[in-house]
Amino acid sequence: MEEVVTPPAPVGPALAVAGLGWGVGGMVIVEDVTLEVAAGELVSVIGPNGAGKTSLINLISGVHAPRTGTVRLLGEDITRLRPADRTQRGLGRTFQTASLFPGLTLIENVRLAAQAHLGGSLHLLAVPRPDDVAQRRAEAALERVGLLQRRDDIAGRLSHGDKRKLELALVISAEPRVLLLDEPTAGVSVEETQPLIDLIGQLHAAGTTIVMVEHRMEFVVDVSDRIAVMHEGRLLMTGTPRDVMTDDRVRSAYLGHRA
Ligand SMILES: Nc1ncnc2c1ncn2[C@@H]1O[C@H](COP(=O)(O)OP(=O)(O)OP(=O)(O)O)[C@@H](O)[C@H]1O
Ligand SMILES: [Mg+2]
Repeated sequence: MEEVVTPPAPVGPALAVAGLGWGVGGMVIVEDVTLEVAAGELVSVIGPNGAGKTSLINLISGVHAPRTGTVRLLGEDITRLRPADRTQRGLGRTFQTASLFPGLTLIENVRLAAQAHLGGSLHLLAVPRPDDVAQRRAEAALERVGLLQRRDDIAGRLSHGDKRKLELALVISAEPRVLLLDEPTAGVSVEETQPLIDLIGQLHAAGTTIVMVEHRMEFVVDVSDRIAVMHEGRLLMTGTPRDVMTDDRVRSAYLGHRA
């Protein structure tokens, strides 16, 4: 007799933003942004200074409440959840400016982040030595960014590029399903930029869904599945790197505003 095989349930996007809008007073900063990111996809958001890229990340991560639209994470509407509740559901983010404890060691920095993430549910899980979980996650995260051997160095003494890697380790230690990276190469020297982009490519290859903001298009074309172009608060287009690079509207909007 033939075996009855149940087809797998259709998998929706890992992240879905629909009609998202936000502003301050009478100023519209993000307008009608719709973007779906599939599980395992790496989508880069590019656009000139002031285009609204960070504001979009802030809306997705819950720093700002949108005026219009919705944010769905792994099928769940998270539009009204606080940032910490979004983190607990698998949304991780880094910030455009450094967010480390410079006087602590690398492992202390990551361990604190891992502990903060585990904190809320420890008593429910009744883990006898919860510190060990945080420690294990912290070491695994440092290993993934290539900094485990420097675990006892002081964070403040790292190069800019290694600081940004450490920030990635902080967010990875929470084992996010969807990772939002706001200019992960900001402030990093040209020589250190490509290794950082390569590292993000490795996280992507390992299955993490990533939305990465970067205003220099040339750094994202090789590593991105798709590129979304923001301009004056709106999404100008979303497409493959090739589509975006050859689009006339992108060229004029982007190059015309280059700093
Ligand atoms: N809280 C706020 N209050 C007032 N204006 C804001 C606020 N946040 C952002 N803006 C304005 O909204 C616009 C978009 O800012 P945003 O930081 O999102 O741009 P961006 O694309 O990330 O730029 P950059 O490439 O410089 O990081 C800018 O003109 C900025 O000054
Ligand atoms: Mg920004």
